[in-house]
Amino acid sequence: MKTQRLDKIISSQFNLTRSNARRAIRIGQVSVDGKIVKEFATAVDINSQKIEYCGKALSYKEHIYIIMNKPKGVLSASQDKSAKTVIDLIPQQLMRKNLFPVGRLDRDTTGLLIITDDGDFAHSLLSPKKKVYKTYIAVLDGDITDQMCKEFTKGIVLADGTECRPAYLKSLGNCCAEIKICEGRYHQIKRMFGVVGLGVNELKRVAIDDFWLPEDLKEGECRELEKNEISFLLKDC
Ligand code: URA
Repeated sequence: MKTQRLDKIISSQFNLTRSNARRAIRIGQVSVDGKIVKEFATAVDINSQKIEYCGKALSYKEHIYIIMNKPKGVLSASQDKSAKTVIDLIPQQLMRKNLFPVGRLDRDTTGLLIITDDGDFAHSLLSPKKKVYKTYIAVLDGDITDQMCKEFTKGIVLADGTECRPAYLKSLGNCCAEIKICEGRYHQIKRMFGVVGLGVNELKRVAIDDFWLPEDLKEGECRELEKNEISFLLKDC
């Protein structure tokens, strides 16, 4: 049996402040197993009891995992004083407290971003020790050479002396390249190409490990990850 206080459940699952959750309970908007419960500290078994808020049945989830195709122009941050963030793009029905993006994409980078409230999950994908490779497509201001591919594989040393782990670079023709890295240093790919004398005009993340950005998820769109997708992402971690 896994019990939790009713106000905590309503607050976390319906993205209400604790005081609004308590108010909703007090005024009779919450029922447990079909009966209105007005005592906010009631212990409820989240696995076996049926909770409804304003007639909406709750399917309890400890954490939420959202996949987004990040558009240009928004910050990968939980909040910002003035700029629009990826959290501002999350629709109300997926909104939870404490959401954060798993790793950062630059404001002008597009593509695969996962947003969650599960810190352990994020650590599994981000820790360089776990060597989870992320794949990007870059549009460059010149063509890559075999020598550049070798240098990336050996490990680029950035202008400030930082040694990067091996990265894998492949030409896709027409100044386009696929690049795989397993770290997330600030502007890492742009700085790596800078070392070999190339500028990055466009950058899109297309995969995390073997999990690819779904083709039907348009820029700016997001949806909840399916259970099997979450397990797939965590398979080696
Ligand atoms: N490397 C960059 O330079 N930018 C990103 O957004 C991600 C990786």
